[in-house]
Amino acid sequence: MSEKELFELALEARKKAYAPYSSYQVGAALICEDGSLYTGCNIENASYGATNCAERTAVFKAVSEGHRKIKMIAIAGGSGEKTNFAYPCGVCRQVMREFSEPAELIIVVGDGRGELRVHTLEELLPESFGPDFME
Ligand code: THU
Repeated sequence: MSEKELFELALEARKKAYAPYSSYQVGAALICEDGSLYTGCNIENASYGATNCAERTAVFKAVSEGHRKIKMIAIAGGSGEKTNFAYPCGVCRQVMREFSEPAELIIVVGDGRGELRVHTLEELLPESFGPDFME
């Protein structure tokens, strides 16, 4: 699965976003160590604080199905019809940290017009706290 293909799955997942309050729709798609794929969308709530980001929806779906290591995640987000480089929020970066090797996890964001940016989690969450600290 290429970065582009995974981003296309994120764009598809974005169509399911439930974002009536912000109108900022996000989709995420991830691939696990064993090649299995999960997608997610943001799910807002009238209480606002109970909102779940697309990335966490996808990670929690994967983990709840028994997968503990993600290798690559693509994110597509934007307001209305537009998408733009949608970088993961801090909470989602920390959740990714729990279920990846930070130097190996690939994070793909795109502008929706064909340009992709590819990062590692280590770049986006340097000097991070993770499960190894708890051993
Ligand atoms: N959102 C995500 O789904 N992922 C992020 O990494 C940042 C923000 C969602 C949450 C909320 O539904 C909307 O985007 C606006 O913040």
